[in-house]
Amino acid sequence: MKNLKLHEIRSEFLNFFESKEHLMLPSFSLIPQNDKSLLLIGAGMAPMKKYFTGELTPPATRVTTCQKCIRTGDIENVGKTDRHATFFEMLGNFSFGDYFKKEVIPWAWEFLTEVLEIPKEDLWVTVYYEDDEAFKIWNEDIGLPKEKIVRLGKEDNFWELEVGPSGPCSEIFVDRGEKYGCGDPDCKPGCECDRFIEVWNLVFTQFDKDEDGNYNPLAHPNIDTGMGLERMATVLQGTNNIFETDAIQDIIHEIEKVSGYEYGSDKETDVSVRVIADHIRAMTFMISDSIRPSNEGRGYVLRRLIRRAARHGRILGIKEGFLSELSNLVIDSWGEDYYPELMENRDEIVSVIKAEEEKFLETIEQGMSILDSYIKNLKKELKNTLSGSDAFKLYDTYGFPVDLTEEILEEKGFNIDRKGFEENMDLQRQRARDARNDSSNIGWAAKSHDEIFEGLSSEFVGYTENSSVSKIIKIVKDAEEVSELNKGENGIIVLDKTPFYGESGGQVGDTGLIISKDFKIKVLDTKKTSSGLHIHVVEVLEGKATLTEVEATIDVKRRNDIRRNHSVTHLLHKALKEVLGSHVNQAGSEVLPNRMRFDFSHFEAISESDLRKIESRVNEMIFESLPVETVITNPKDAYKLGAVGLFEEKYGQEVRVVKMGDYSMELCGGTHVSNTSEISMFKILSEGGVSSGVRRIESITGPAVYNYLNELEELRNKASKIVKTNRVELISKLKSIVEDINSKDKLIEELKLKTAKDEVSSILENIEEVNGIKYVTYSFEGTDVNTLRDIADEIREKAGSIVVLLSTVNGDKANFVAAVSKDLVKENISAGNIVKEVAKIAGGGGGGRPDMATAGAKDISKINDALSELKNILN
Ligand code: ALA
Repeated sequence: MKNLKLHEIRSEFLNFFESKEHLMLPSFSLIPQNDKSLLLIGAGMAPMKKYFTGELTPPATRVTTCQKCIRTGDIENVGKTDRHATFFEMLGNFSFGDYFKKEVIPWAWEFLTEVLEIPKEDLWVTVYYEDDEAFKIWNEDIGLPKEKIVRLGKEDNFWELEVGPSGPCSEIFVDRGEKYGCGDPDCKPGCECDRFIEVWNLVFTQFDKDEDGNYNPLAHPNIDTGMGLERMATVLQGTNNIFETDAIQDIIHEIEKVSGYEYGSDKETDVSVRVIADHIRAMTFMISDSIRPSNEGRGYVLRRLIRRAARHGRILGIKEGFLSELSNLVIDSWGEDYYPELMENRDEIVSVIKAEEEKFLETIEQGMSILDSYIKNLKKELKNTLSGSDAFKLYDTYGFPVDLTEEILEEKGFNIDRKGFEENMDLQRQRARDARNDSSNIGWAAKSHDEIFEGLSSEFVGYTENSSVSKIIKIVKDAEEVSELNKGENGIIVLDKTPFYGESGGQVGDTGLIISKDFKIKVLDTKKTSSGLHIHVVEVLEGKATLTEVEATIDVKRRNDIRRNHSVTHLLHKALKEVLGSHVNQAGSEVLPNRMRFDFSHFEAISESDLRKIESRVNEMIFESLPVETVITNPKDAYKLGAVGLFEEKYGQEVRVVKMGDYSMELCGGTHVSNTSEISMFKILSEGGVSSGVRRIESITGPAVYNYLNELEELRNKASKIVKTNRVELISKLKSIVEDINSKDKLIEELKLKTAKDEVSSILENIEEVNGIKYVTYSFEGTDVNTLRDIADEIREKAGSIVVLLSTVNGDKANFVAAVSKDLVKENISAGNIVKEVAKIAGGGGGGRPDMATAGAKDISKINDALSELKNILN
């Protein structure tokens, strides 16, 4: 067998098929073109479906490629097993109505035995059980003995995607020798152990499967083959798994260098190295094919891969970002000959990974500690499921893709309320829709307003004045014009001129009083009609309101609070652009007396440190006491001056530009402070997502900050009292309490283990015998699988010759562990088979080594039936 490097195997394959008159094409993009049935390309033939069906004419009838592929269905298993990967390369040769079985089988044989020099005696094949033609070619033309041609059913030897070209197939296996095997004398391809490794799948594509599941015969039969490049490297290089092959080892060495961890020294930690070694290739190739991290579709897959790899980097103790540097190694190694796109896109690849990783690292620590506290609570409350709203919070605030949260939880034996999570997502989308709809909504009588108020106009003097001498020019009650409004009645009043600001541009309407010598009216709210008229929503407090001269005065204190909150939106807008980038734009706002919220375009949760930067920048501008000036000009000049604002919106001939020192300049019709120092102080209370790409900040200013400080102080005093310390030592006291709890938790765990082990002796008293074989079964509750394994081991050791079968129930899931002593393994009693059969009864499955194996199951009501089955199995 030739010992070839990964990149050499690729060239050998492509050269071989070029010598058989195939056209070598570069790998297709990972993004399926004009194919909605696939998210990412996961097989060599996938981008060529239309050539198979005849919809498109291929550039040649014989083609060979090495296709970059991504499959994420088993992402949780990557790193844990020897075989799983998200990224892999598939070598293939294809015939579009050209050659068929008679040609492809001998070529495959020639390539394997003559080019790669794999000994003939090591090769086995499978064929579809009805495919006598393929059987005959293997047996008679190639000379492969009948017993090395295994006929298998549709599950193994029929290749298909959801829809599209499909057909029976023949798979070629390399026998890696008994040392990889399960010991079963009848072990052959199809067995689940690692002895026979499938290296090549020859698909005889005869059908086009439609959406209804019908197999429609194709006009010309085709050939589609797929050889896993990494697998072949494993075989030729004689390694135990894909992670030990040359090019992937290079990546692993680099990970060892940055982490200081030596691969191979701890099985569990190795998983993290493997995850990174796999994901780094996936992300590098995806970005090079112009996929960008996002919260949907392919972008979500990419985001998840980067964040998953970053998290495993942390597990390895790597504190800084390292993935972008590592991607350079992938680019150099893979980009050299077959994937020039990697070289061409190097800068993009590196910078996208860097940005995504940095963003995640900024929040990961906080997110992880929040998640840890959730887990602690679940444990405390004896629950298994994290609520949808908690999972959503991690997603929304800390950027944890929900699958990542789920995975971390599963590692610890918990799960997520996925439905609840989706509901939270829907709510967020709804909030975003509401936010878009509520602008300048005028309420109950929107339509009739326009008719009733037609022809009226009022002058707004509220930019400079808090009160004015005005005339009531219209009174409306229940959507009808009236001439008077009695004490206690509600209605709408229009003044010829008014200091009351009508709700618009996110700023709430003013409240206040309208007084004459005969009556007193309370203004509850002020709105603005679509034609710009200010209308006052009122209640008559005293006397009878009539169309007469009045003094109108706004609630000045309230307005001052509103001014502060409005002016600060401008400072915030600018500070966001400064800190996060010029892509930030205002998407909406709500300016109230006691707080404001500001919506803006940005794709990520803002890190704690950026948030502090933004907040402190705004406060700096407050403390600098910048003068606030307004200039009335036309849109064109405003734009030229560099004012920001929604220019595409309908502004009148005149626009109002609000300038705060040289720091900010915005188009705005709102009311503002005259100097930024009036804002006094600015405090962000929260930051979160509103919809995809829109974030929201909620904040307070002035007196509200003062109140907030008082509340914090009170909280701190209360907390100090509860933990009986003074406020200076509060934190160190809390730390020591948490440490204390942690060490007690640990103690409880140890005691639990000890109790479980104590049960070993009582279990040993219940040993039974069947057929001369000693066995024992026992069911635990709430014990984890590792402990169960330890217990099984201990029983086996203590009892000598025995078969042990234990179960444990955790929530609504069950696990089985079987252990068989050495002497009984020799008699062909296999723990793997036992758990498989037993778990089947309780709706599950599993397997493992003949001496020790585990399985999971879902139907906990069947545990006892399952345990009793052992007797039948041994009988
Ligand atoms: N399309 C076949 C596979 O992916 C070759 O296995």
